[in-house]
Amino acid sequence: MRKKIIAGNFKMNYSVNRADNFISEIKDRINTDEVDVVICPNFVALDRISELLDGTNIKLGAQNVYFEDSGAYTGETSVDMLAAVNVKYCIVGHSERRKYFNETDEIVNKKVKKILEKDISPIICVGETLEVRDSGKHFELIENQIKEALKNIDKEAVSRNVIIAYEPIWAIGTGVSAASVQANEMCKFIRDVIAKLYTRKVADLVRIQYGGSVKPSNAKEILECSDIDGTLVGGASLTNDFVAIVNY
Ligand code: 13P
Repeated sequence: MRKKIIAGNFKMNYSVNRADNFISEIKDRINTDEVDVVICPNFVALDRISELLDGTNIKLGAQNVYFEDSGAYTGETSVDMLAAVNVKYCIVGHSERRKYFNETDEIVNKKVKKILEKDISPIICVGETLEVRDSGKHFELIENQIKEALKNIDKEAVSRNVIIAYEPIWAIGTGVSAASVQANEMCKFIRDVIAKLYTRKVADLVRIQYGGSVKPSNAKEILECSDIDGTLVGGASLTNDFVAIVNY
């Protein structure tokens, strides 16, 4: 039985004091007995939020990382730097990074490899635009994104740490989530792709999240789908709605 994992992606919201106040206010109301809960604030808040979460079961995640170990890469952050503040998860290949920062499948693969080297769990985001879905090429695109992201990564690392987040771009920040049937269909498809790349046993271990306009009113239905093992929450993770989603 895969344990559900619900992650809040704060994106570029809440500077450190605001993040601290908000998380202080909700942390004791979050039930972490049956669900892994992850909070991903911005980089400059990581250290403080790490201290705040110390002693709780809520885990810390980062929203991005660079694939080199150290050196002259102005503005970048290494996996070791994340590990030093107790980051356990790292979002990779979010559609906003692919769109605004030219993050390619090749870059995603390099980042995933580096994250796995340090035994952190990458949350690998994949998803199609509405145009691609309307053209009927969404399965092909997602299969390709998964294959490229996992290129030359061994099955032990995948089974132990990899998390996939299916986030259809047309559902992100729009208020219109995918129907649970649609979301489950794609998450099941992703599991089959992983089974083809590795084995069925590996595919059954990998947790696959859905993300895109998750809110208290649709969380339960989404989380009860057979192949959806959690949610990646954007806007609703910035409010009390996050508590309701986690305690669904
Ligand atoms: P929303 O929940 O705001 O649609 O964002 C989803 C997302 O992009 C999470 O990474």
